[in-house]
Amino acid sequence: MRRPVSIAPPKGKLGVLTPGMGAVSTTVMAGVELVRRGHAVPVGSLTQMGTIRLGRRTESRIPKIKEFVKLAELKDIVFGGWDPFPDNAYEAAAKAGVLEAKHLDKAAKFLKTIKPMKAAFDQNYVKNLDGKHVKKGKNKFDLAEQIRQDIRDFKKKNKLDRLVMVWCGSTEIFLKAESVHKDLASFEKAMKSNHQAIAPSMLYAYAAIAEGVPFANGAPNLTVDFAALTEFAKQKGVPLCGKDFKTGQTMMKTILSPGFKARMLGLDGWFSTNILGNRDGEVLDDPGSFKTKEESKLGALEYILQPKVYPELYGKFTHKVRINYYPPRGDNKEGWDNIDIFGWLGYPMQIKVDFLCRDSILAAPIVLDLALFMDLAQRSGMHGIQEWLSFYFKSPMCAPELYPEHDLFIQLMKLKNTLRWMMGEELITHLGAEYYD
Ligand SMILES: NC(=O)c1ccc[n+]([C@@H]2O[C@H](COP(=O)([O-])OP(=O)(O)OC[C@H]3O[C@@H](n4cnc5c(N)ncnc54)[C@H](O)[C@@H]3O)[C@@H](O)[C@H]2O)c1
Repeated sequence: MRRPVSIAPPKGKLGVLTPGMGAVSTTVMAGVELVRRGHAVPVGSLTQMGTIRLGRRTESRIPKIKEFVKLAELKDIVFGGWDPFPDNAYEAAAKAGVLEAKHLDKAAKFLKTIKPMKAAFDQNYVKNLDGKHVKKGKNKFDLAEQIRQDIRDFKKKNKLDRLVMVWCGSTEIFLKAESVHKDLASFEKAMKSNHQAIAPSMLYAYAAIAEGVPFANGAPNLTVDFAALTEFAKQKGVPLCGKDFKTGQTMMKTILSPGFKARMLGLDGWFSTNILGNRDGEVLDDPGSFKTKEESKLGALEYILQPKVYPELYGKFTHKVRINYYPPRGDNKEGWDNIDIFGWLGYPMQIKVDFLCRDSILAAPIVLDLALFMDLAQRSGMHGIQEWLSFYFKSPMCAPELYPEHDLFIQLMKLKNTLRWMMGEELITHLGAEYYD
């Protein structure tokens, strides 16, 4: 990838489209509205609260990220979305039960104006949902064309300058890339023949790319992670990233495991279990959708701990992940981790983590950051997979010849160095030898 020669300024309005208007999506919409009206602080958002050090430590140049790279302002964001249920964003947020009345009431008027467009939805891919607010079309290609038309209409109606799309829809059943995903011609042919390997999320991704709209995938679905669409994105000059927002338990895993490895502490096993009662939990109660999530959650430790490089420490560890749908907890997930580690002379130790987290509260700032950074990438002429945004994902997309980087701290360094690189600033290596000359 070449360094951007110039970065277009974020003029005019930015449309943020979310296929899926459920817990995560409506929590972002409400939160952005509350922040821009001065009722809340955007906690958890790197683009809004984060700073970046430039130059030497002695220079004290530490601007806010959003000022350093000129991100779109929150006041310029316009939200839209699709959902197989017709509830407006207020009704959907109330059902999701993430936000308390004190927040929901203040954002009510705004949220009621956001009504979902009809979804390209097929229950074969999300078994536990049965929405009726869905598009009809003669085949999958036709549905993708309808999404393209929605995008154009939304842009025109809201007088938008630019758009980004972030998949906040449910987790679909597990699919592997196959021959229909190998190039654009095969993919389009498969859409026209209603091939079962073409899931609804792929239709949104295809439509976004075709319309020149950056696409981020917040779920673990295959969606855009195959040659046909990554190549299409390069050809159309569109940035892509995914998959699966890194929020609760996996975020903790990618914080803790780099620490064990740094100290050369061994691992015998890591058992993770969750109880979750929101619609996402209900969807994941279906084995097909759970398999997609499980694959995504299992990857991080293997990559971070490098069992082949450190066979005595990480060659034989057991890793299990369970998600149990338990309605009383709603969106307030509880995730337990039992970690069996060993130290000097092989003596065993245990660590227990009990994270009482709020899933959508952790995911919402990620959606906002992705929307703003993807817009920046687009304005900078960066296209194809944006690996520097791995920071936000459980299964980061990367070039086919690479393995993904999961360590949260390396991911953050990569993200910030990418911003420095884009702006022609010196990269920070943390060597610091110059201070001791
Ligand atoms: N909350 C988190 O911490 C977190 C973390 C990682 C990933 N995710 C993923 O983000 C996604 C959204 O999570 P959520 O908690 O908001 O779930 P949710 O169930 O509250 O919302 C998902 C919405 O997507 C809709 N949907 C399903 N198929 C669709 C389609 N084809 N087109 C348009 N809309 C469709 C559903 O009707 C639902 O309203 C899920 O896939 C989830 O696995 C969430």
